[in-house]
Amino acid sequence: MKHMTELTLTDQRVLIREDLNVPMASGNITDDSRIQAALPTIKKALSQNAAIILVSHLGRPTAGQYDPQFSLLPVANRLSHLLNQDVKLIQNWHQGVDVKPGEVVLLENIRFEAGEKSNDEQLARQLAGLCDIFVMDAFGTAHRAHASTTGVAQYAPIACAGPLLVKELTALEKGLKNPAKPMLAVIGGAKVSGKLQVLHSLVGKVDKLIVGGGIANTFIKAAGYRIGQSLYEPDLVDEAKQLIETAREAGNEIPIPEDVVVAAEFKSDALAEVKSVDNVADDDMILDIGPKTAALYAYLAKQAKTVVWNGPVGVFEFPQFSRGTQLLAEGIAQSGGFSMAGGGDTLAAIAKYGIEDKISYISTGGGAFLQVLEGKPLPAVTQLEQVAER
Ligand code: 3PG
Repeated sequence: MKHMTELTLTDQRVLIREDLNVPMASGNITDDSRIQAALPTIKKALSQNAAIILVSHLGRPTAGQYDPQFSLLPVANRLSHLLNQDVKLIQNWHQGVDVKPGEVVLLENIRFEAGEKSNDEQLARQLAGLCDIFVMDAFGTAHRAHASTTGVAQYAPIACAGPLLVKELTALEKGLKNPAKPMLAVIGGAKVSGKLQVLHSLVGKVDKLIVGGGIANTFIKAAGYRIGQSLYEPDLVDEAKQLIETAREAGNEIPIPEDVVVAAEFKSDALAEVKSVDNVADDDMILDIGPKTAALYAYLAKQAKTVVWNGPVGVFEFPQFSRGTQLLAEGIAQSGGFSMAGGGDTLAAIAKYGIEDKISYISTGGGAFLQVLEGKPLPAVTQLEQVAER
């Protein structure tokens, strides 16, 4: 795979695919981390006097039609501010883009194009026709085989990986291939089903696989405890039992919480009660791990030499059910080992507890991060590897 840093970009037309899919509320960007993460790549290309055309998606608009609420205009404005130079948003780029060396433009949301998600050849060729060099830098979208992530790389004169993509892949490789031991993974979230592949992929690899949230409830049930009204997936209880067994056979462990925080209802002002895991009543809902469990998990995180974190262990949006996620986050922050985290909720927890500087690597990827944890290749990376062999 070619890297952008190996190429001379001077006076070249460089098309850079970034993941500028940032969260928005009422037309305002609520978190610009992904824009910030793309800046070093853009600045590197600018320092070589390249003519830069940025391409990204935003949200999931209906393909084939313009929808103002998914416009990238706020992103173009934020980029202009951060780069301290004008970044024009280009609506009609199909006949060509007027961009000079040292300038940056941003194409309007590529998912307004009918052929983006279907990886249409014509659209991919049109994008490729805009540039001398295509840079795939959008790690967060590298799990999508779309016209602007994989298709364009087939037809561009030169296609290479951008610095952010390379940085993400290097960190993931460090954490997952020959990780320093002991290794701990925290996989939280509402449903086992969404993370089943991740659990299967990690169970034989990590010394401790901590499960949290609704996922933990299915495992608590699988371990033979009553879980009352807690969210869980009845169909996956047997699978959870097998995973517990697989971990044991490999000499690893999926710990079952010793205590939990329960409430009678899922509400921000619900009354929280700590209970031993074997004392959950029929009308209880488990909404967090208990203090003894949180202390143990935090200790395990501190001791670990490698930590992979995706998903909270409780309903951390509500203060009375946030203690487990907070203690665990602090434990990960105090770990002297290599820690990496990814996913929207995880990043929100990291920001909430102010531990950004204490995590070795924070990924910009959600689905892409999970796909790597699943042990599956990323189509956009595979495509870059294939074109490099041509
Ligand atoms: C993400 O937010 O995970 C990426 O930007 C990909 O977005 P998508 O899930 O809509 O393809």
